[in-house]
Amino acid sequence: MNLNGRKPNIAIVGATGLVGGTFRKVLEERNFPFEKAYLFASAKSAGSTVEFAGKEYIIEELTETSFDGKEIDIALFSAGGGTSEKFAPLAAAAGAIVVDNSSQWRMDPDVPLVVPEVNPEDAFRAPKGIIANPNCSTIQAMVPLKPLLDTYGIKRVIYSTYQAVAGSGIKGIRDLEEGIQGNDICVAYPHPIFGNCLPHIDSFLENGYTKEEMKMVNETHKILHNDKIGVTATTVRVPVFTAHSESINVEFEKPFDSVDEIRALFAAVPGLIVQDDPANNVYPLARDASETDEVYVGRIRRDFSIESGINFWCVADNVRKGAASNAVQIAELLIRQ
Ligand SMILES: NC(=O)c1ccc[n+]([C@@H]2O[C@H](COP(=O)([O-])OP(=O)(O)OC[C@H]3O[C@@H](n4cnc5c(N)ncnc54)[C@H](OP(=O)(O)O)[C@@H]3O)[C@@H](O)[C@H]2O)c1
Repeated sequence: MNLNGRKPNIAIVGATGLVGGTFRKVLEERNFPFEKAYLFASAKSAGSTVEFAGKEYIIEELTETSFDGKEIDIALFSAGGGTSEKFAPLAAAAGAIVVDNSSQWRMDPDVPLVVPEVNPEDAFRAPKGIIANPNCSTIQAMVPLKPLLDTYGIKRVIYSTYQAVAGSGIKGIRDLEEGIQGNDICVAYPHPIFGNCLPHIDSFLENGYTKEEMKMVNETHKILHNDKIGVTATTVRVPVFTAHSESINVEFEKPFDSVDEIRALFAAVPGLIVQDDPANNVYPLARDASETDEVYVGRIRRDFSIESGINFWCVADNVRKGAASNAVQIAELLIRQ
């Protein structure tokens, strides 16, 4: 991105939502440099005000002409797939690079799917002017899988997820809050989430899997540039407010000596934190991972049922590393270029 020494102008689309609000927080925390900021949402929130970087901003309604004449360099989108489908190309045509949080563009061959710790170089090949942020449950898994792939090769991955209600936005959080109060309200889900585990995230497909499960399969292949890895997933919504937990089973191509070797490999990865001392009840927990940008791994153990492989537990804040923070890290890559 050629800024000729000036700070970028930025836009946040979906600025009033859960991810949009976290964009504002993360941009402030990381002192992301910008000249002008434009905050967009639907007609419902237009005219309301929000605080951002010490100023009050008026939310503008997103329309076909929203990006015209504003010289927006980076547009962070988190307003759902339909909004991204229609408006991301308009933002790109007006000169912005879009970093999109929806699933709309993720599998487009001309749209890179980027986790900055894993495939940062892909961010610079975005012929449509759109970069996709992967699915939250995929992002956190990529950070530990990449060093395993590079070191041992990977034959197969089995994901079993325990996903927080924040992954469904403000609606999901409300359903759990209402459930705790004794009201079985089902706005985000087909069943009450309080006291339940729902093996159902996003809609069911003809093959019996959910869209969320197939996102994990397809996005793993795309981000790791390797279609040969066997990947399967069962994704489950659990009554946890924030941070997704995942059990990940990995079968390697090559042997490894010890679990300590894996711990050392993980410990050397920026953004990855090993919490693995079961004797002292130390392992990654959703409540500890909430409000942080790191990915946490623990319960690392050899899978004795195969020749070479491990099981581990992986936790990250789905709204931050799984969405807003990953997108802001991508924007940081762009302005550093
Ligand atoms: N929550 C997560 O952990 C997570 C993780 C990864 C990706 N995502 C993705 O991020 C996106 C937003 O998720 P969220 O959890 O932040 O949802 P949310 O809390 O429901 O917020 C949705 C946002 O989109 C805006 N919006 C809706 N329709 C719009 C339209 N037609 N034009 C402009 N703005 C519109 C809303 O504005 P109003 O206030 O005006 O309604 C609101 O700001 C989704 O695509 C989701 O799949 C979410």
